Amino acid sequence: MSIMKALRERRTYYAINKDLPISEEKVVEKIKEVVTLVPDAFNMKSARTVVALGEKQDELWDAIYDVFDGKVEREKIDSFKAGAGTILYFIDEDVVKSLQEEFPNYAENFPIWANHANGMLQLAIWSALREEGIGASLQHYNPVIDEKVKEMFSVPESYKLIAQMPFGGIVQEPEAKEAEDPNNRTKVVK
Ligand SMILES: Cc1cc2nc3c(=O)[nH]c(=O)nc-3n(C[C@H](O)[C@H](O)[C@H](O)COP(=O)(O)O)c2cc1C
Repeated sequence: MSIMKALRERRTYYAINKDLPISEEKVVEKIKEVVTLVPDAFNMKSARTVVALGEKQDELWDAIYDVFDGKVEREKIDSFKAGAGTILYFIDEDVVKSLQEEFPNYAENFPIWANHANGMLQLAIWSALREEGIGASLQHYNPVIDEKVKEMFSVPESYKLIAQMPFGGIVQEPEAKEAEDPNNRTKVVK
């Protein structure tokens, strides 16, 4: 699949299940490869991922439900738990700090760039999964769940949780999006 096709087909998939069209090993391999391919400012490599599979996937979403103490509907949490796994995206703040110390003139920018790079990684993995016939969505239960996630998966203290991406077999395609005039958001000058 070309990058354009993968970008066109990537959508927010809320209806997912545990039946992956490829093995968990292949999914993990793909994620690891994308992590190494996506760029970062000064090549600082600030992004980290934790992939929760099997029992850990179920435990993660049960824990998120508990941390929110019933404030998020069980049905919604269960829709994410129904997936085969969840990718947790982090920024290693120790890496960001070391670059700030090394290049003080850019100190303010490194946290911003680390967030940019994390977003690039999220999109790349989201699209790469779709290329394999896997649906995913992007969730943000952080920072409420930060401590719980660190404790559950022994995540280093320097890792800041940025996003959660539940993924799985596609149960239902989302509705088609409204067509958009690309000229509204891109101006060409020459
Ligand atoms: C940076 C970012 C944050 C998002 N956060 C959430 C979120 O917390 N929960 C959610 O259900 N969807 C979230 N989304 C999904 C968007 O709502 C969705 O991508 C958008 O409506 C376009 O739909 P599509 O993904 O099907 O193309 C997020 C998307 C992006 C790019």
